[in-house]
Amino acid sequence: MRTVIIYHSDSGHTGAVAEYLARQTGADLVRVRSTFPYTTLSRSVTGVRRALSGTPDPIEQREIDVAGYDCVVVGSPVWAGHPTPVINGAVDRLRNCKGKAGVAFVTCCLVSGGAAGILTQRLENRGLQVKGSLVVHGSQVGDYTHLNRLVAIINRPWYGDIRVY
Ligand SMILES: Cc1cc2nc3c(=O)[nH]c(=O)nc-3n(C[C@H](O)[C@H](O)[C@H](O)COP(=O)(O)O)c2cc1C
Repeated sequence: MRTVIIYHSDSGHTGAVAEYLARQTGADLVRVRSTFPYTTLSRSVTGVRRALSGTPDPIEQREIDVAGYDCVVVGSPVWAGHPTPVINGAVDRLRNCKGKAGVAFVTCCLVSGGAAGILTQRLENRGLQVKGSLVVHGSQVGDYTHLNRLVAIINRPWYGDIRVY
């Protein structure tokens, strides 16, 4: 199964999780950076406002074509209980994702709010079929027992549109 991990990370937590997952699963990594001119202060004001309203940031990539992959993993920091505008920009620019497996994860300090569910819904709106999600709190970034839950979700067999009840 070919897997790609698409993630946004400013201070390194989401990136550390993404790199661990890539080592464990052999997935490719795509780091997404915003071209919105944030300062440290405006990230906490404008960035939070954009996260709350679900606004996508402009990002470096014009598009993120996942045609060559079976599974698309998307990771975001939590901003005010939401996925970041940066990852919203990445989700908007996904190409050829319809019908593929998806996995969502978010990292946060303490309170993730509805961020994992919101990210899951956005991925499903793009046509991915999300087979699981995980919240990683700050203290769990190096907790491999916890992160291996995400590895197990990524490695879970996937039969496309066929649902077994
Ligand atoms: C603007 C902003 C808003 C944040 N809001 C939350 C929040 O609502 N809940 C929380 O637990 N952590 C919050 N955090 C902390 C980050 O989610 C957490 O540190 C995350 O792991 C950072 O990921 P990164 O190191 O990959 O950038 C916020 C951080 C920033 C910069």
